[in-house]
Amino acid sequence: MCGIMGYVGKNDATQVILNGLAKQEYRGYDSAGLALRFDDSIKNIKIVGRVSELKKLVEASDFGGAVPASGMGHTRWATHGGVNVTNAHPHESADGNIVLLHNGIIENAREIRVKLEAEGVVFASDTDTESACQLLAKLYHGGDALPAMTKLCDSLTGAFAFVILIRDRPGEIWCARKGSPLVVAHDGGASYCASDPTALLDYTHDLFFMEEGEIARLTEDGCGFFGFDGSPREKQSIFLQWDSVMADKGHYEHFMRKEIDEQPDVLRLTIEAHTDITSVDMEKTLKLPPGLMSRISRVQFVACGTSYYAALTACNLMESLDDTLNVRADVASEYRYRNIGRGDDTLAIFISQSGETADTLSAARIAKSKGVHRIAITNVRGSTLDREVDHSLLSLAGPEIGVAATKTFTAQVALLSILVLQLLKLRGALSTTDEARLIGGLRSIPTKQQAILARDLDIKALAEKYADSKGFFFIGRRENVPLTLEGALKLKEIAYLPSEAYAAGEMKHGPIAMLDEKLTVVAIVPQNDLREKMLSNVAECRARNAPIILLATDGDDGVKAIGNDVIFVPATEKELFPLLGVVPLQLFAYHVAKTLGRDIDMPRNLAKSVTVE
Ligand code: M6R
Repeated sequence: MCGIMGYVGKNDATQVILNGLAKQEYRGYDSAGLALRFDDSIKNIKIVGRVSELKKLVEASDFGGAVPASGMGHTRWATHGGVNVTNAHPHESADGNIVLLHNGIIENAREIRVKLEAEGVVFASDTDTESACQLLAKLYHGGDALPAMTKLCDSLTGAFAFVILIRDRPGEIWCARKGSPLVVAHDGGASYCASDPTALLDYTHDLFFMEEGEIARLTEDGCGFFGFDGSPREKQSIFLQWDSVMADKGHYEHFMRKEIDEQPDVLRLTIEAHTDITSVDMEKTLKLPPGLMSRISRVQFVACGTSYYAALTACNLMESLDDTLNVRADVASEYRYRNIGRGDDTLAIFISQSGETADTLSAARIAKSKGVHRIAITNVRGSTLDREVDHSLLSLAGPEIGVAATKTFTAQVALLSILVLQLLKLRGALSTTDEARLIGGLRSIPTKQQAILARDLDIKALAEKYADSKGFFFIGRRENVPLTLEGALKLKEIAYLPSEAYAAGEMKHGPIAMLDEKLTVVAIVPQNDLREKMLSNVAECRARNAPIILLATDGDDGVKAIGNDVIFVPATEKELFPLLGVVPLQLFAYHVAKTLGRDIDMPRNLAKSVTVE
């Protein structure tokens, strides 16, 4: 949570920082602030609200014609302390010597505060961050700041990405990372730092991803890296292939809508990178130790939020194809409480769009401590998860800016499906018939998604018709249960409407009591072996006067009389239906949210990347 941008160079820092904050606003948007360094002063400007308002305030400020050559900015997602200007970052030490901003949570902040207050330091805010700022002011006595930085990092528990300006150290920015992401870059005449690589792509694609326990000193001449013990570190940059245009809204009103439309291209890329016409081909992209898959008896898929629903989909597929494996999917924040097993008969697959989700990272570290073999699927090369696991696969969705995940979900499901087939093939548990059937099915998904996207106007009309529902129930069976969860999550996230997801058979065990004419049921009823059972469940809902929207297969006209409205999608292999079914559900949520006037790309209370546990 929270977006950070820092700059030191020869140009006006103001625009670089505001531009970087605007690109990372989806990380947090309660308040925003920036600190600009002039020859003999640091100006700190903060507001409650969006980066656009900060920009107006900065542009209206008179710096007497002076141009700042360095500075830093922050967009906040509040953890400690309410949303107000005082609690907004950057924070300034009581002696005015240190200006600091932070992403993360300092767990021993209270202890530090009590101690410093006893020594007479006056705190201005309620934040945990200010404790780090005031402590650094105590530890720094002039000259090289590295000793004070190492003592600061040693004294803190919890998670932090810091960016720091020191009043008597012009031309320098200090950074430190433990637990929260920070990426650093140098492009000749300037150095930059940000929470998210997308903020740096306008300047360079050569990025230094800071490791756990690292400090960096940025100047216009370059970046120096140190461990928390002060020892210098050599670092290799990573080239990120993303194009800055990919992180641009183009002619779209919202990133989410653009990202929904990008799915056919994203899936084509993802599928073609790992398959042949009729077979999986991960030889080059995934190198596992020989014999590993024959030793494995347990496979665990672990993730949060939408990525967890992708995990559930993969878990269903694997289990349906191999009954000798013990396969399960876990929410990352709960994985730690389970006895997950130990040793090299267990394979854990961690899925995270950002590769920075704190719960998923903790789960992956727990798995490592138990000797479990680990694979990751992430969308961000160089992210912490990408770097920490034994094998990492990229989902090739390109930057996703909308807080609600869309294209990264389908990219994850496609890549996970291919991975499942590859793992089973290595185990000798995949028939050539299933392989050819599913690979053929996967390769036809992008074209079928295009056909669904062309039905957008119909889905929009439905969304407008149902936007005044008091809530939604999504029901489905087997591989479509994760799809109901994802459909419901999209509506919760961006439309703020109560929406529940149930395995259809469960409805009559309680939830059906809630149904009436204002609670809409969205039933997933593809033409498969479960169609009749699903239709019986729909009839039960209809008998309770609930309006019904069906998601059905093209040509299945028989369902028209059963639902109030039907969204049709092309036929596909039953296991792959979620890759098609999710597209109309994304569009439906988008149009409902738009009808209700919601802030679609930055829904209230959320942040794109959840870097606190
Ligand atoms: O970056 P990750 O995939 O690890 O993020 C996990 C969840 O926070 C994320 O999927 C969240 O649920 C999205 N906002 C869903 O749209």
